[in-house]
Amino acid sequence: MRDPRRYAGRRVGVFYGGISAEREVSLRTGAAAASALRRRGYDVREIDIREDWLGTVRSAECDVAFLALHGRFGEDGCIQAACELAKLPYTGSGVAASAVAMSKVLGKRMVAAADVPCPPDAVYEGTEIAGAKPPPFGFPLVVKPDREGSTVGVTIVRDPSMWEEALAAAARHDIRVLAEAYVPGREITVAVVNGKVLPAIEIVPKSGFYDYRSKYTAGETEYVIPVPMDRDILQRAAEYTRRAAQALQLRGAARLDYRVDPAGNVFFLEANTIPGMTETSLLPKAAKFDGMSFEELVEEILSDAGLSK
Ligand SMILES: Nc1ncnc2c1ncn2[C@@H]1O[C@H](COP(=O)(O)OP(=O)(O)O)[C@@H](O)[C@H]1O
Ligand SMILES: [Mg+2]
Repeated sequence: MRDPRRYAGRRVGVFYGGISAEREVSLRTGAAAASALRRRGYDVREIDIREDWLGTVRSAECDVAFLALHGRFGEDGCIQAACELAKLPYTGSGVAASAVAMSKVLGKRMVAAADVPCPPDAVYEGTEIAGAKPPPFGFPLVVKPDREGSTVGVTIVRDPSMWEEALAAAARHDIRVLAEAYVPGREITVAVVNGKVLPAIEIVPKSGFYDYRSKYTAGETEYVIPVPMDRDILQRAAEYTRRAAQALQLRGAARLDYRVDPAGNVFFLEANTIPGMTETSLLPKAAKFDGMSFEELVEEILSDAGLSK
């Protein structure tokens, strides 16, 4: 077993902030992780990345990087590559795994190849987005940018008249856009930490759509753990998470989003390789339910930091 105190006595740089649509969330994740590490006795420096990513990594005075960045450059393999080049061990998934998981299209292809059901989709790129015809699986469907997060640029399209506007909204965030069959029913998220699958959490947004507001406004969404759902459905979701994590070569902590249709079929939506880590976020909630404190969780993630993963 890995020594949870592997980096005891070392200087930990908590990298947070960044420039993505999820900067604010990242600031909160980083602050929470930094204070938990301090409570555990680590010498922590908080490193807010604004623009000069490479320069910040190169001049960071630390022995190991705790990555608390979300979205573009932070979760997509870029900062991971900078750490590799600087020979600075870092937490979480490696360069390729981060890049693949960040792309909803590529992530789904890897996960589907591991026999995990994914909703059918159609992919549109660059100049073919304007004027594109809706996919054959019809409406309702969900249009989303390939590499974004926090439901930014995502539209549930119930009516063909909203199709073009939804495409344009997603295209503002990425050169690649996907349209995915809408899966009615319920939503669950399953976290995995260093290969261990944690209990699922059900997500019940009051508005019916788990959008940015529902994600980050207190009281707008109910999070239910344990999930009141048939055991075999939850076991299947756990098994899918194991397979998906292996197929995507995930490391450290990750959180996988699923929809569960009324017949109990579970569909993979996406993997988050640097999930939110404020004390009220989903991953810490699942860990806590499983008997792991926030400090233990953060230290567990730190213990898996490394290079060439
Ligand atoms: N195929 C789908 N069917 C039903 N709801 C979906 C589907 N895809 C996305 N959603 C909804 O949109 C939210 C955001 O989509 P997701 O793929 O998780 O992207 P991200 O969280 O990275 O923005 C999901 O949490 C879910 O509520
Ligand atoms: Mg999601």
